[in-house]
Amino acid sequence: MIKLSPVAVAKIEAICDRYAAEQTPLIMILSDVQKEYGYIPLEVQEVISKRTGISVAEIYGVVTFYSLFSLEPKGKYVIGCCLGTACFVKGAQNIIDKFCEILGIQPGQTTPDGLFSIDALRCIGACAAAPAVSINGQVYARVKVDDVPNIIKSYREKGGAA
Ligand code: FES
Repeated sequence: MIKLSPVAVAKIEAICDRYAAEQTPLIMILSDVQKEYGYIPLEVQEVISKRTGISVAEIYGVVTFYSLFSLEPKGKYVIGCCLGTACFVKGAQNIIDKFCEILGIQPGQTTPDGLFSIDALRCIGACAAAPAVSINGQVYARVKVDDVPNIIKSYREKGGAA
């Protein structure tokens, strides 16, 4: 359970107010909150609910439906493994399994050192490069299982540096 500071609450309320005139503001609010804080825990959802009148159940449903949003802090490097059809038929499941095996986490989780998160994504718009993996926006094309250890190693060597 996190305790939000009055400043944090005010910032979240200001984001809600930014979209007060919109008919369906929730996605826009959540996008801005995710950008600001990196994740959207229940305590933040409660602030949004109080400010907008949208139920926590609805907010929670949206946060957990879209991979763009997260209930937990993401790692420094977010590994997005595409499991869309084009990637899936070219072995994407084996690729994500290898990332999970090496990092010891499941999709949606973050390593204890905070360096890596893994997300299972639908099509990321790089079907010609299937199977595709995106890490902090950089797309890796035609990834092979054997490539995975070196990809992870290259980010480990960067460490906490961006
Ligand atoms: S299905 Fe993976 S990029 Fe389109």
